[in-house]
Amino acid sequence: MLQVKNINVFYGRIQVLWDLCLEVKEGEILALVGANGAGKTTLLNTISGIIRPSSGTISFLGRRIDNLPPHEIVQLGISHIPEGRRLFADMSVLENLEMGAYSRGSWKTRQKTLEEVFHLFPRLRERAGQPARTLSGGEQQMLAMGRGLMSKPKLCLIDEPSNGLAPKLVQEVFQIIRSLREQGITILLVEQNVRQTLEIADRACVLENGRIALEGCGEELLKSEHVRKAYLGL
Ligand SMILES: Nc1ncnc2c1ncn2[C@@H]1O[C@H](COP(=O)(O)OP(=O)(O)O)[C@@H](O)[C@H]1O
Ligand SMILES: [Mg+2]
Repeated sequence: MLQVKNINVFYGRIQVLWDLCLEVKEGEILALVGANGAGKTTLLNTISGIIRPSSGTISFLGRRIDNLPPHEIVQLGISHIPEGRRLFADMSVLENLEMGAYSRGSWKTRQKTLEEVFHLFPRLRERAGQPARTLSGGEQQMLAMGRGLMSKPKLCLIDEPSNGLAPKLVQEVFQIIRSLREQGITILLVEQNVRQTLEIADRACVLENGRIALEGCGEELLKSEHVRKAYLGL
């Protein structure tokens, strides 16, 4: 579904991603794990068109996207649920959700999509009129995910959704990600919560210093000596 081929990404003169290749298959949860600063967010920003690779290609459903602006990439069916939620703090929950449907096509069907999002996150319906900043951390993550779903994506890029949440809410977030896959949405999930992520992922990649260091199915990586030592503290 998504093919990232040999991309190199720089911030000024500093190289952050090195000749990176990655493939996301339709219908799967692909997890991308790695330490702080490894380049995970940079990779998601590159896929969604916020950052341009200096070389290499990115294709989605057979079409080159590495030269498209972010709004066109959203229209093709890729939604980015960013690190740190990035909500519009003073806008209401409903307005935040509507912002997710601004792209052509999804705007017309926004009422129906809104019902689907409210069905998935009943709390957002109850809070629809409140400013986003008044939500709890968990509710803000739900809103960020709901907003991301308003564009009717085929592929969701989700960056550290469990960050800063209490253990019970972390469970809930992972549950929701699973249910998205059951609805047919493909997921590229970035997480530092390595164990739980590998448990729900179909496949996973470990990113170290801007390079893919390991890849395999979730279970394989859970058993890998390197992953156990470096990421699970075993
Ligand atoms: N806007 C930026 N300008 C310069 N360097 C950046 C910028 N964003 C990230 N970096 C650097 O790029 C590297 C990778 O960062 P990032 O992609 O955020 O990693 P991760 O998401 O894995 O924690 C880090 O060394 C970080 O300091
Ligand atoms: Mg990050």
